[in-house]
Amino acid sequence: MEPPETIDAGAVVLRRWQPQWVDEATTAIRESLPELKPFLAWARDEHDADATRAFIEKSAESWADGTEFTYAMFDTTGDLVGAIGMMTRMGPGVIEIGYWIRTSYAGRGYMTAAVGALTRVARTLPGIDRVAIRHDAANAASGAVAAKAGFVEVERVTRDPEAPSQTDTEIIREYRA
Ligand SMILES: CC(C)(COP(=O)(O)OP(=O)(O)OC[C@H]1O[C@@H](n2cnc3c(N)ncnc32)[C@H](O)[C@@H]1OP(=O)(O)O)[C@@H](O)C(=O)NCCC(=O)NCCS
Repeated sequence: MEPPETIDAGAVVLRRWQPQWVDEATTAIRESLPELKPFLAWARDEHDADATRAFIEKSAESWADGTEFTYAMFDTTGDLVGAIGMMTRMGPGVIEIGYWIRTSYAGRGYMTAAVGALTRVARTLPGIDRVAIRHDAANAASGAVAAKAGFVEVERVTRDPEAPSQTDTEIIREYRA
């Protein structure tokens, strides 16, 4: 089960993470912290290049062992505008998609396009029959992206909040063609 290293999503292109993007990714994350911190537990004020480097190294390992396939997103001018990935942690047959956008590129439909393209890829992977997105019940932006990309709510689960704006409720959505 190995997806393509580059995925064309129209307005954005997804590229498997590479070490040479450490500095640009760190800048993108740091300038987006006010929007990332509320719902992403890994996004912290102290985020630095070492943290990004560790993330990219882990991404390479996870890609190699087939557990996660993460991509940086670039616009048509080559700017790094966010990230998106596929994860197998929900178990056999299921791909979970997660994402964040660089704040200065938010609201342009980039993430909706990226989720659509990655969902099409996920559905072609051998043994995969469901594609899911999980987001906090208070995360309206993530819910809107998922809904626009064709994901419908299938379940609500209670779990401990891990980021400042998270509630105790997570919504699980699945793609419906
Ligand atoms: C979720 C996130 C990626 C959305 O990025 P984005 O650039 O707004 O995405 P898009 O431009 O594709 O927007 C898709 C839709 O969401 C809507 N939307 C965006 N923010 C919204 C909000 N706060 N409330 C309701 N809808 C919202 C947009 O209006 C758009 O719909 P429209 O085209 O009908 O107007 C971005 O807000 C983000 O990175 N958030 C922090 C990280 C995060 O929460 N990741 C997901 C964890 S589960």
